[in-house]
Amino acid sequence: MSQRVAGKIAVVTGGSRGVGRTIAERLIKEGATVIITDINVEAGEVTAAEIGASFFKQDVSLQADWQALHDQVQSEHAGLDILINNAAMLRTADAVSENLEGWQLVMRINADSVFLGVNTMLPLMANSGGGSIINMSSSSALIGMPHFAAYGAAKAAVRGLTLSTAVYCKQAMNGVRCNTVHPDGINTPMIQEIASDLPPMDETAAMRAIPFLCEPEDIANTLLFLASDEARHINGAALCVDNTATIHPPHM
Ligand SMILES: NC(=O)c1ccc[n+]([C@@H]2O[C@H](COP(=O)([O-])OP(=O)(O)OC[C@H]3O[C@@H](n4cnc5c(N)ncnc54)[C@H](O)[C@@H]3O)[C@@H](O)[C@H]2O)c1
Repeated sequence: MSQRVAGKIAVVTGGSRGVGRTIAERLIKEGATVIITDINVEAGEVTAAEIGASFFKQDVSLQADWQALHDQVQSEHAGLDILINNAAMLRTADAVSENLEGWQLVMRINADSVFLGVNTMLPLMANSGGGSIINMSSSSALIGMPHFAAYGAAKAAVRGLTLSTAVYCKQAMNGVRCNTVHPDGINTPMIQEIASDLPPMDETAAMRAIPFLCEPEDIANTLLFLASDEARHINGAALCVDNTATIHPPHM
C-alpha cells in the first residue's frame, strides 16, 4: 500500500461528513495522523472512531476554538504538516433576496474561518518545517451563480486570502504552501440538503449539470495530491475539479 503522507500530522475541519470525512479517511490510509474537527460533536465522535482519527470540537468561526486547537496540536504533536480548511455552510439567496444577517453569517462561517485557520495555524506549520494548507473554495468563486450571492463572495474571499498567503510563504521561505480547490457540485449532504431550494431546471439545464457533479473521492484525490510532497512546487494554485464547469458557457 502506498504511503503518500506517511508520518504527517493533519487537521481537517468539518471532518464528520462529506468531503471532510472522505479526505480524513484517505489521509489516514496514506500514513498520516489526522485530527478532524467539527461543530457537530456527535457526528464528529462517531466518524473519528470509525475512521481512526481523533476528534476536536470546534466552531471554525471562533478565534478561541482555533487557539484551543492550536494549543492541543502543539502539545500533542509539536507541529502540523497539513491543514484542510474544509468546513463551510451553504445558503441559497441572490443579491436582492439576501439580507445583511445572512450575508454576515456566511462570511463568518466560510471566510472568517479560513482566515482564522491560516492566521492561527500557519506559524505552527512554519515552525515545524513547513506544510500544506488547502482551502476549500468553489466554482462559485470564479463564475457568477445568482443563487449563491454570499456563498460565492465568501469563496472568492478564500481565493484572495490564499493568493496573499502563498506569496507571503514564498517570501518568508517558511516551507508552507497554500492552495485552493474549486469543485462545482459534489455528491454530499451539503448539496443534497439544498437541492429543493434551487429553482427547477429544464431538461437541458439538468443534462448540463450532471457531468459537473462529482463524488467526494474525486475531491479527496486532489486534496491528497496537494497535501503530499508530490505537490511541493504548487503554491497559490486554484485547482478546478469541475469537468469544465468554470470554462464552458452553457449556451455553447
Ligand atoms: N458539496 C458541494 O457541491 C460543494 C461544491 C463546491 C465546494 N464545496 C465545498 O466543499 C467543502 C465540503 O463540503 P461538503 O459538501 O462536504 O459539506 P457538508 O455540509 O457535507 O459538510 C460540512 C461539514 O462542516 C461542518 N461545519 C459546518 N459549519 C461548521 C462550523 N461553524 N464549525 C465547524 N464545522 C462546521 C458540518 O457539521 C459538516 O460536518 C465546503 O467548503 C464546501 O463549501 C462543496
